[in-house]
Amino acid sequence: MKEYNVAIVGATGAVGEEMRKVLEQRDFPIKDIRLLASERSAGRRLTFKRVGIAVAELTKDSFEGIDIALFSAGGSISKKFAPFAVEAGAAVIDNSSAFRMDEEVPLVVPEINPEDIQEHKGIIANPNCSTIQMVVALKPIYDISRIIRVVVSTYQAVSGTGRKAVHELREQTKVLLSDGSVKNEVYPHQIAFNVLPHIDVFFENGYTKEEMKMVDETQKIMHDPDMKVTATCARVPVFVGHSEAVNIETEEKIPLEKARHALENTPGVEVVDSVEENLYPLPVMSEGKDPCYVGRIREDESIENGINLWVVSDNLRKGAALNAVQIAELLIP
Ligand SMILES: NC(=O)c1ccc[n+]([C@@H]2O[C@H](COP(=O)([O-])OP(=O)(O)OC[C@H]3O[C@@H](n4cnc5c(N)ncnc54)[C@H](OP(=O)(O)O)[C@@H]3O)[C@@H](O)[C@H]2O)c1
Repeated sequence: MKEYNVAIVGATGAVGEEMRKVLEQRDFPIKDIRLLASERSAGRRLTFKRVGIAVAELTKDSFEGIDIALFSAGGSISKKFAPFAVEAGAAVIDNSSAFRMDEEVPLVVPEINPEDIQEHKGIIANPNCSTIQMVVALKPIYDISRIIRVVVSTYQAVSGTGRKAVHELREQTKVLLSDGSVKNEVYPHQIAFNVLPHIDVFFENGYTKEEMKMVDETQKIMHDPDMKVTATCARVPVFVGHSEAVNIETEEKIPLEKARHALENTPGVEVVDSVEENLYPLPVMSEGKDPCYVGRIREDESIENGINLWVVSDNLRKGAALNAVQIAELLIP
């Protein structure tokens, strides 16, 4: 089997760390791995397959000989450096939002639209974490009857903002438990013991960028620009694992058992739905795991053809690193 030279851009970050783990755990055929980050981290040693590797500073010359470049260092870094990687002959899999809505760039969730990677011209975009876990749960329902409308509310973990936010929640929690006063650096308000209905910047229409990503990216991945989606995204004091309440309206009525059966037989989905035993998906259950957990499957009794789901997944894995590595696996002939 061919082996690949792989670069991770943003290797020291929350997603970058998970990428190393996922590449290792899935035994991706790697010849050589290059770990790239800012000049602040240059020289720092990280391990891959129990071997210490020095982090190198990202420059435009970082991609010589690289076959696959996994980018997770933010949109501006992707915009600036992904073209150099493509020019050097690498296939770029980008975790940022920089190219997701570019018509020339496929936006891929391997369980849903793997065929779209055929159209790539050097860059393949990895969708937003909250979108990925929702569409994985929507697809089996959509395959039974077209979905007309989705109303989603998210409860998103702080690791979705990166390492600094994880530190901020930990520090604020400690300080508040000892009666101190908190400093807010990452978020505009205290995140410990709080809920912020605000993820990313606000647009003129009153929605946040995160909420509009869920609308636009879902339509692109599902190839259905007429599917209506509305989202409210909130940040909650959870370290890892996004939770979503997803309300789905379909064209035809789907018997609940048929929906449950379809979900149970969908790769990437694990149904956890036994309310008699208090079993339903939880963020703590998702940490470090691959599936999108689906539970609280029930009819929306307020409309003719409606289903409600509770969907939870590890935002750093299926929401980022795992999905990116699955895309890389699709590139292997
Ligand atoms: N966290 C998630 O759940 C999630 C999910 C999907 C997508 N994403 C996306 O993935 C990206 C990274 O997120 P994260 O959560 O891993 O953030 P993070 O923990 O803050 O890590 C950021 C990474 O980017 C690197 N970086 C920053 N400035 C750089 C520069 N000038 N040159 C080279 N590298 C630079 C950092 O290197 P240093 O250590 O040297 O500063 C670090 O490795 C973002 O685009 C984010 O939107 C995140």
